Amino acid sequence: MTGAGAQGGAPGSDRRVLVGVTGGIAIYKAVELVRGLAREGFAATVVTTAAARRFVTPLTFAAVSRGPVLDDESAWQSTGGWFEHIDAAREADVMVVAPATANTLAKMAAGIADNLLTAVYLAFRGPVIVAPTMNWAMYEHPATQENLRRLAGRGVEVLPTGRGELACGEEGLGRMAEPEAILAAVRRAFAVAAEGPLCGRRVVVTAGGTRERIDAVRYVGNRSSGKMGRALADEAYLRGAEVTLVATHAVEGAPYTTVPVESAEEMAAAVRESTAAADVLVMAAAVADFRPREAEPGKIERGQRETLGLELERTVDVLAAAARPGLLRVAFAAEAGPRIDRAREKKAAKGVDLLVFNDVLAEGVGIGADENEITILTGDREIHVSRRDKRACAAAVLDAVEEALP
Ligand code: CTP
Repeated sequence: MTGAGAQGGAPGSDRRVLVGVTGGIAIYKAVELVRGLAREGFAATVVTTAAARRFVTPLTFAAVSRGPVLDDESAWQSTGGWFEHIDAAREADVMVVAPATANTLAKMAAGIADNLLTAVYLAFRGPVIVAPTMNWAMYEHPATQENLRRLAGRGVEVLPTGRGELACGEEGLGRMAEPEAILAAVRRAFAVAAEGPLCGRRVVVTAGGTRERIDAVRYVGNRSSGKMGRALADEAYLRGAEVTLVATHAVEGAPYTTVPVESAEEMAAAVRESTAAADVLVMAAAVADFRPREAEPGKIERGQRETLGLELERTVDVLAAAARPGLLRVAFAAEAGPRIDRAREKKAAKGVDLLVFNDVLAEGVGIGADENEITILTGDREIHVSRRDKRACAAAVLDAVEEALP
């Protein structure tokens, strides 16, 4: 498995997930799971059992996965048939079965292949994750427990079930894992199986705009949302890197180390520490160039003032302070206008390995937006990445990083 190409996004993504869906009431969470996968740029292919179709029509899964849904019926009716469907399904990188009923788990454990889903499981050679769901008594039955142990013993990741009210009205263990927990397992499976150039490398990413204190409640800041930095950190994680994200905003659900900071000074300290043994530093953060010379410990009162002067001083240059042999540094240059000339000068002046240029005045991209349009300046090339999802832009930046790594 290698890193995603510049296209990213689903469909067309080169991270393929096969989602096996069986007939359990928790199937509504599977719809949410497939939606989440598509949102994160995975190409999801859904395979359902006949029982699953009684709960949710294939149309629902086709809509959320933006692709065809495979099942026994379609396998027999469409051209190619059964074996072509199995082949198509096993091309995926990761397989997840959610919800996984006691019946399907038993078949998987025994190697029974009497429907497309279980046949695909037998033919599949990548990582498999199952999210069991059933009535508590069925779950606790020694037969089910033995099947789960057998599957786990073969390397299948069996997600824990939750306790609570079950569809049958009884209380107990048997609730399916939440879609976010299943998504996390899918991401982890990709990270573990990754084998590209970033695999095992230590990557530090900074994100967001720094806040420089004026007084106890006010600060000088900027409009950076931190989305580009988050996308870069997520993408590096999926490529198997050991990621640290130094961010000025709350980062939810990140599967890697995050270090919260506020000011340029704090960011510099965190970057210094985390890059000590790192291979790559990606400075996506919008670091304030100036900060108030003196921050008031209390709150500046309005009083009778008509004006308020703030004297600003330069902040530390985080990127420059982190420079050391063996650390590949990536700078960002957000310019007001199509100033690629300024970006080129900046790259030379800062002595960085790569520089990512974007025009913050261009419509629909840049600060706060979900999309970006960038030009990556490498040692010998300028790679233009037309307007697209920030996740796909992150993939293009990391492609360039991989190429530049010694
Ligand atoms: N940067 C930094 N420390 C600072 C200011 C910026 O590490 N104190 C980093 C940014 O994270 C970015 C790169 O330097 O990766 C370029 O930032 P930018 O503000 O565009 O560059 P400046 O050198 O500040 O140039 P100018 O403000 O004149 O455009």
